[in-house]
Amino acid sequence: MEDIDKQHILRRYREEKERGVLFFPDIIFKDVVVAFGIFCLLIGLAAMVGVPSEPPADPFDTSYVPRPEWYFLFLFEMLKFFPGEIEFIGTFVIPAAAVIALFLLPFFDRRPTRHPLRRPLASGIMSAVVLAMLGLTIRAAVTTPPQPETFGTTYEERLTAGEELYATVCAECHQPEGEGGEVKGVEGLEGRVLDPINSRDFLYTRTDETIYNIIEYGQPDLGMPPFGMANGGELTRQQIDAIVTFIRSWDDRIVVEKPPDTIPALAEGEIPDYETHVRPIFNRFCIACHRPGKAKNNYVMTDYESVMTTGDHAPNVIGGDLSCNLVRMLYREEIEAGGPMPPTRPLDPKKLEVIVRWVEAGALPARTPEQERQTRGMTSPIATPTP
Ligand code: HEC
Ligand code: HEC
Repeated sequence: MEDIDKQHILRRYREEKERGVLFFPDIIFKDVVVAFGIFCLLIGLAAMVGVPSEPPADPFDTSYVPRPEWYFLFLFEMLKFFPGEIEFIGTFVIPAAAVIALFLLPFFDRRPTRHPLRRPLASGIMSAVVLAMLGLTIRAAVTTPPQPETFGTTYEERLTAGEELYATVCAECHQPEGEGGEVKGVEGLEGRVLDPINSRDFLYTRTDETIYNIIEYGQPDLGMPPFGMANGGELTRQQIDAIVTFIRSWDDRIVVEKPPDTIPALAEGEIPDYETHVRPIFNRFCIACHRPGKAKNNYVMTDYESVMTTGDHAPNVIGGDLSCNLVRMLYREEIEAGGPMPPTRPLDPKKLEVIVRWVEAGALPARTPEQERQTRGMTSPIATPTP
């Protein structure tokens, strides 16, 4: 068997040699053609698609998640199995062993057969290696945490991002429009009266850099916590920049084209939809105090499930029941669950109506098909008959 194989291969070798293919020019020519093709492809991609660049490196940004290129991800993932002291096994021993094994292969596998099916051991090992690489790559891709949002470079994008961030982290103390006043419902600052930060007095006398620094470093002796990540806070530099952009938009010396209100209005008779109408209001006016980790209450309003089920006085929202906690508190009643909400300033009547109509219609995570039809009937213009 082995002998027949050997003869067969030797015969083929002789035949090929007689036919004769010269390294130069035959092989070189093929190489040049392929290289040229790839070159054109790269030039084309560079010209038409380009390379997306990340923002400039920022040594203070501790939220950056560094990752190698995808074709090295499996090596990177393998390191996770060798933590700390034994890391060198993943970085050195295994890769070196693999390379040496490949290098020695021709010496200990001298059989002339080439067909993969007839070399089960070699084929098996190689398949296992490829599968492992594939598996590790997938594992790495799945477990990669999302890169924190990087804000676009346009003014509008920064303004919108800043507005959202401000509502989430600053509004609980400085109020939704920077108007300040008495702080209510915030651990440690109950009853403190804050100066407005949207006034001319404030905005005309502070540069963007000053505001940036106040947010980054806080004013600990006055009760303003530091927010920069390098100072133990939760905001990246880009996020703070976005907030400064938003605060500066209150300055009447600069004329800004304000993007339309991100909270959509209801059409006449329209049934509110949770994602479109309700959630943006909660995000702007409630989650500053009603997100996980707040000392003064356990009511989390960042997603539908939590809105319906969390809180020391849960359920706070009951579909169809206008005497549920949330609605009563929005109408500024003082009940067992607590005082008026939001504590400092009533929600404006239009937004209040959105929430109330949503609760009335069942407080659903999304409109039912029936409600959709009803809504469309109310909002679409009366169809004109086609001639
Ligand atoms: C836990 C409450 C709290 C939060 C949250 C908070 N601040 Fe403050 N902030 C304060 C207090 C207290 C002061 C001290 C000023 C005072 O006593 O009037 C202050 C001061 C400031 C000042 C300086 C005001 C001045 O008159 O010089 C700015 C600007 C400011 N905060 C912006 C922000 C921004 C932007 C955020 C969100 C990233 C934020 N703050 C979040 C409590 C807070
Ligand atoms: C400035 C912080 C703050 C803001 C903003 C705020 N809340 Fe509250 N909320 C609290 C605190 C603190 C409590 C705990 C009860 C109390 O102290 O009155 C609470 C309690 C509640 C409760 C009762 C939860 C329970 O199960 O005990 C509901 C419902 C509620 N808030 C709804 C809202 C809604 C809706 C909004 C937005 C429109 C809102 N809150 C905005 C601070 C806030």
